Order: sequence, then structure tokens, then C-alpha cells
Amino acid sequence: MGRWLLVKVLVLIGLFVVSGGRVIKMKHEVEGPVYNQTIVKILVEYASAVYMTDLTELFTWTCSRCNGLTKGFEMIELIVDVQNCLQAFVGVSPDLNSIIIAFRGTQEHSICNWIEDLFWKQLDLNYPGMPDAMVHHGFYSAYHNTTLRHGILNAVQRAREAYGNIHIFVTGHSMGGALASFCALDLTIKHGIEDIQLVTFGQPRIGNAAFSNYFIRHVPHTVRVTHANDIVPHLPPYYSHFQRKTYHHFAREVWLQDIEVESLVYSVEKICDGSGEDPSCSRSVSGNSIADHLKYYDIDLQADSLGSCKIVMNTSTTRYHVDDSGNIMLSKDHLSPSFVELNSLVL
Ligand SMILES: *[C@@H]1O[C@H](CO)[C@@H](O)[C@H](O)[C@H]1NC(C)=O
Ligand SMILES: *[C@@H]1O[C@H](CO)[C@@H](O)[C@H](O)[C@H]1NC(C)=O
Ligand SMILES: *[C@@H]1O[C@H](CO)[C@@H](O)[C@H](O)[C@H]1NC(C)=O
Repeated sequence: MGRWLLVKVLVLIGLFVVSGGRVIKMKHEVEGPVYNQTIVKILVEYASAVYMTDLTELFTWTCSRCNGLTKGFEMIELIVDVQNCLQAFVGVSPDLNSIIIAFRGTQEHSICNWIEDLFWKQLDLNYPGMPDAMVHHGFYSAYHNTTLRHGILNAVQRAREAYGNIHIFVTGHSMGGALASFCALDLTIKHGIEDIQLVTFGQPRIGNAAFSNYFIRHVPHTVRVTHANDIVPHLPPYYSHFQRKTYHHFAREVWLQDIEVESLVYSVEKICDGSGEDPSCSRSVSGNSIADHLKYYDIDLQADSLGSCKIVMNTSTTRYHVDDSGNIMLSKDHLSPSFVELNSLVL
């Protein structure tokens, strides 16, 4: 913990010195969406449920987080990339009459280690087809180069065949927010699906200013929720003077603040400007809290049990498919629950 604190302090001092509080100006052709708290409060419950480790309960939507505002959710596909410790699902929300795609954040023993790593993430990949747009290779490939993408595209196609061209919401918390962002962009650009709505919670930065500019043009209905002093939205660091080389958030941030007045805590929401790096939103605070990262709108956003990449499944009642790499897919057709073929497997 000592080393971690020192690193953080040094980087924050560095940040302060280099950035000098300036903001990179970006041009915007599309106005940001109106933030709808009713919808976002439903989505945060999906972002929380996707952390659950019991796959049987999650797949049958009977888990402890599978009620409340998400009641009645129709699961279509649950994908677990065991090798890379990733989890996501696709299904249909009857209340929103929409497809929901949710990505889990990191499920490590120590969230501190994961956050510490974020300080050093390089912009090391040119986003294909976007001149000057750079992103972090690790986040990019966690979506593009794992089982997730294929499973999700497949499920979205099946959902649209069954339900018609209903709306799509993509959501995720922390690293899950980073993956959700790449997914929303992919669905828009490569698959021509319009009007995707992206809502992320406490996500890190994923690309540079050029990337953010493209992003918001392609996925204009984006809400990036940040909470109080949550440290993760401050990472990887933002340096206003290396425009091409620095990370830069995309708009539209909505910053949740907890304001204490005479021992009462009020929750205040600030809809931020269209720059992505509004200096009066989360950037106005030092951002050093892990606790603020793990709770949004009073909903827990972390795994329900400790341990790296733990998977719990009742293999006697749950039918599933395991691919050559040991990744698990649970699929359902909404009309007549029929599962993809069952391989012989050892868990
Ligand atoms: C927010 O979304 C809900 C659910 O779709 C809808 O009923 C409500 O009218 C929306 N509110 C605003 C202000 O658009
Ligand atoms: C994709 O993943 C494979 C295996 O994990 C790896 O060998 C390959 O280099 C990755 N490709 C990219 C573009 O990241
Ligand atoms: C698995 O499901 C069967 C049938 O419902 C039940 O009898 C058994 O106790 C379950 N096992 C676990 C570990 O939950």
C-alpha cells in the first residue's frame, strides 16, 4: 500500500504540473444526449448484476442482484472468457423494450493493483480506419480479440431477429465501461446499427483526443457517469500538452457528487460540457477514492465474492457450451429455450 500511495502522489503532482488546468478544445457536431436518470438507474443494476459469479443464477436471472429494476430480464447469451477473466451478457429488458449488453469490470484479488497498472497504460494502438486516433491495446483487444465480440454479435443478431430492430443499450462499470465503449463503436461502425446508447460507470480513459472526437460523432448517445472522488476516471492520466499522445475522455460526463450539509448527504448530478474533459466536473477534485469507484447510485459494482476469476455453476442443471480455449457460453433462444450443443467438458 505504501508504494502504491507514493506512486499515486507522484503521478498526481506530475499531472498538476503538466496540465496546468487547461483543456483541449474539441469541435462537436452533435449535441450530447439528455441524461435520463430513470434509464441510467436501471442500467446501473445491469452493470452490477454482470459481476455475479454464479453463472446458473445469472443465466436464469435468479441471482440476488437480478431483481429490483431489472426484474423480468430475458437473458439471451452469457459469455465467459475464462482465459482473460471477462464476462458479458446480452438480453432483452421488457421495461426498456431494448436489448441490453453488459460487461463486467475487472475481477482481481486486488482492485488496487489493477488501478495502479492503469497509471502506466500506453496509447499503443492506432484505431483502425481513424487517422491519428490512438487507443490502449489491452482494452481494445479485450473486446476485439476475445470470445466476447463474437458471442455478443451473434446474440444481438438473434435478438433482433426475434424482437425486431429494438433499441440497444450498452453498459459496463470500470474496465467493463471501456469494453462497452469499444462494443458500442463496433456495433455502429462495422455493423451499421444506429442509435446505440452507451452508459458507462467509472470507466477509465481509453483513447486520445482524436479518438474521442470520432467516438462521439459515431456514438453521440453516450453518458459517462463518474462519482465523487472515484479514482478510475482520472486514469490513465491526462496531460493537456501532448495532444496526440495523451489520453482524453469522450463526452458526455455526468458527475455525481455527494454534498454534505449539516450531516445530511445530498446527491447532486452535474451534466458536464461537451469537451469530455470538463474541468468543473470530476476533474475538479483530486480523485483518490476506491470506495467511490465501487458504488454508483448506491448500487454495488464489484464481484459478489473475493478471488480471481471465480466461476460457480451448477453443472447438473445448467447446459452450456465450452469452446476449444475453455471459454463458456450459455445461450438461449427466447421463444423456446434451446441451448447450443453440449460438449463433453471438465470444469
Ligand atoms: C426517461 O425515460 C423513461 C423510460 O423510458 C421515460 O418514461 C421518461 O419519459 C424519460 N424522461 C425524460 C425526461 O425524457
Ligand atoms: C489476439 O490474441 C492472440 C492470443 O491471445 C494473440 O496471440 C494475438 O497477438 C492477439 N492479436 C492482437 C491484434 O492483439
Ligand atoms: C444443482 O441442481 C440440483 C437440481 O436442482 C440440486 O439438487 C443441487 O443441489 C444443485 N447443486 C448445487 C451445488 O447447487
